[in-house]
Amino acid sequence: MKIALAADHAGFELKETIINRLRDGGHEVIDMGTDSSESVDYPAYAIQVSQAVSKNEAERGILFCGTGLGMSITANKVAGIRAVGPCDARQAEMSRRHNDANILCLGQRTLREDTVFDILDVWLQTPFEGGRHQRRLDIITEMEGQWAQGR
Ligand code: RB5
Repeated sequence: MKIALAADHAGFELKETIINRLRDGGHEVIDMGTDSSESVDYPAYAIQVSQAVSKNEAERGILFCGTGLGMSITANKVAGIRAVGPCDARQAEMSRRHNDANILCLGQRTLREDTVFDILDVWLQTPFEGGRHQRRLDIITEMEGQWAQGR
C-alpha cells in the first residue's frame, strides 16, 4: 500500500519507528516530514498528507503529533478526508469497517508503543464493509459539497 506520513516535533520519533515498520512490511512510504524534534506547527504537515490522500497520490495517510488531536482536527478540514485517532485496536478496526477512515492520527505522548503497533496493524488490514455504511459516508460527502458552495 502507498502511505503518506507526516509528524510534528512531538510525533517525529514515532513516525520514524512506524516508517521502518511499514517498509519492513513491504509498504511504499511517502515521508512528508518533519525531519527532527525541533519545534514546528502541526497544521502544515496535516494538510500536506491530507491533500496527498484527497488527490489519490497516496491510498492512506498517517499523522503523528503529541496527542494525535491537532492532526485529526486539521486533516478533517480537507474534503474527502476521514481522519481518526483510535485509542485501541477495536476502535481502529471499526474506523475501517464502518467509516472507511483514510487517515490515522497517532499520539506519541499518549499511546504505548505496543498499542500503536496493534492499532496500525489492524487499521491497515481491515477492509471497509460498504453497504449501509457507504450511504452514511455519501451523506458526509454531500454535506462537504454544500459547505464548499457556502450553503
Ligand atoms: C505540541 O506541543 C503539541 O501540542 C502537538 O504535538 C499536538 O499534540 C497537538 O494536538
